Amino acid sequence: MSRTRRLIDALARDGSLSGPEFAELIRARDEGDASHLFALASEARDRVFGKGIFIRGLLEFSNFCRNDCLYCGIRRSNRRADRYRLSKEEILGTCEAGHLLGFRTFVLQSGEDPFYGPELIADIVAELKLSFPDTAVTLSLGEHPPRSYALWRKAGADRYLLRHETRDPEHYASLHPRSMSIGTRVRCLETLKALGYQVGCGFMVGSPGQTPEHLAEDLLFIKGLRPHMVGIGPFIPHKDTPLASAPAGSVDDTLFLLGLLRLMDPRLLIPATTALGTLDPAGREKGVLAGANVIMPILTPAGVRGKYLLYDNKICTGDSSSACRMCVERRMGTIGYGISAVRGDHPDLEGAGPSPPPPLAAPAPAAPPPAM
Ligand code: 5AD
Ligand code: FES
Repeated sequence: MSRTRRLIDALARDGSLSGPEFAELIRARDEGDASHLFALASEARDRVFGKGIFIRGLLEFSNFCRNDCLYCGIRRSNRRADRYRLSKEEILGTCEAGHLLGFRTFVLQSGEDPFYGPELIADIVAELKLSFPDTAVTLSLGEHPPRSYALWRKAGADRYLLRHETRDPEHYASLHPRSMSIGTRVRCLETLKALGYQVGCGFMVGSPGQTPEHLAEDLLFIKGLRPHMVGIGPFIPHKDTPLASAPAGSVDDTLFLLGLLRLMDPRLLIPATTALGTLDPAGREKGVLAGANVIMPILTPAGVRGKYLLYDNKICTGDSSSACRMCVERRMGTIGYGISAVRGDHPDLEGAGPSPPPPLAAPAPAAPPPAM
């Protein structure tokens, strides 16, 4: 058996490798290794979650941002971004339509837009939880002081997504303005965890300057943080950013990292991202076959969805919410998976919410762990 194959089997057995082993595996693996990894990862995911893929309705409610990340199309220095904000009423109305489409998680995402003060966000969260008590609310609003995170949690927010982007301080510095640091990012994630959020971190694959050693650091960081969710997707350049001419990340690298994450923690919630679907028309299906178990169709209203552009050529910008909802169901069907129209909490927290979904197809998922 080859050395890389042995490393994959060791990861499946132990849930981790050393940093140098991860880096070696990422660098030296071949196509046969990838197929082997994806088979093990799919098996691990099916054992925990069955053949159901969780859906989250993604509502991008503002593309104003006070930050200036070098890779991002809505960075404040991008004067060409066509900015928009949705009102509280528009946000609530969009979620109402999303609820009718079967969504039981809403992800409210925006740039770091000071227009929405902490109280307004808390108000929106509280009203959503009141209107849709069977629904989880996920926030993805960037870095904020602990008191804001605490206020939103008290208002009923269940989950928070904040990608760490890269754990390596120098690599982080090369992708961000001087005002930002990986230290602040990690502190935010730790605060969110301590407040009882289900927390998601994550990173871009193939961001400029990234090495296999950086990716190994990211994986070990995730191992230590023990998040509930990890979002990864390929870097894709945006034409109006300083990284416009950098090459995009690779789909194959992203898929391989998805597989590694699944073997590190079979219970993790891992989306097959829109960025993956942008670089490859079958990217999200491939993501699921590599180990992902979440998909996030866009709920953003038609009038503005073409303006939330973090990278070039984003898919779904001309499609309606119901079209995306149908589209992902059809796509999952083609690979033998179905949509689970439930909250889809992390298995550790299932006892806290409505009961888990019935299996949509054989094999039946393993019995859930006792509630904690
Ligand atoms: N390519 C791919 N992903 C990007 N993101 C931001 N800009 C890009 C880009 N150019 C990702 C970041 C961020 C998430 C919301 O989108 O990882 O955390
Ligand atoms: Fe949006 Fe397919 S998911 S068009």
